[in-house]
Amino acid sequence: MSLTFTLDPAVGPALRDGILDLWTDVSNAGGAVGFVGRVDRETVRPELLKHLAAMAEGRHRLLVGQDAAGEVAATAFFSFNAHRLQKHWVWLYTVMVHPRLQGRGYGRDLLAAAADAARGFDGIEAVRLSCRGGLGLEDFYGSCGYKEVGRIPEAIRVAPGDDRDDVIMLLPLR
Ligand SMILES: CC(C)(COP(=O)(O)OP(=O)(O)OC[C@H]1O[C@@H](n2cnc3c(N)ncnc32)[C@H](O)[C@@H]1OP(=O)(O)O)[C@@H](O)C(=O)NCCC(=O)NCCS
Repeated sequence: MSLTFTLDPAVGPALRDGILDLWTDVSNAGGAVGFVGRVDRETVRPELLKHLAAMAEGRHRLLVGQDAAGEVAATAFFSFNAHRLQKHWVWLYTVMVHPRLQGRGYGRDLLAAAADAARGFDGIEAVRLSCRGGLGLEDFYGSCGYKEVGRIPEAIRVAPGDDRDDVIMLLPLR
């Protein structure tokens, strides 16, 4: 099976709920996508609504991967910089693959589709993201061509006494 990736799909109720379920399931499986501990759809919904509002304003764009049945299996959000001196690169956020599908190459497919999409964005020359240290994510992004370009020690407090590095990864597109 391979996933079908769509940039900027129309987000109706079914797709919105699919993304909410994906984000909730990924978080509850321990994924580093903005939450720690157990969450439900209603915890995640405000974060998704922020992305959707930013998409409506043209500040964010969405890449969705769906399986053969049309189920939402993977996502990544692009965020453009407002600062006029930083308009030549884009942030990538909320990179996730459903837990039942992880470890089968879909994450790499997602990031390949994201790089292809970013190459099509006007004036964009690099993709930057940050990830939580201590989970091996640097190796995942490294296997997708990203380089670690910075690390802020203990900048992410996942729990009292458990601070993780904020790792900055970069993919030049040219
Ligand atoms: C991170 C994530 C997107 C990777 O997707 P995936 O489909 O599981 O990854 P793939 O199967 O495409 O793996 C690609 C490579 O990265 C490696 N890899 C994947 N996740 C890894 C991890 N957590 N630690 C170390 N290596 C990892 C794989 O072993 C594979 O390497 P190989 O080709 O040498 O075997 C997925 O595991 C996920 O959604 N995790 C939870 C959410 C999350 O934490 N997202 C990161 C936000 S910064």
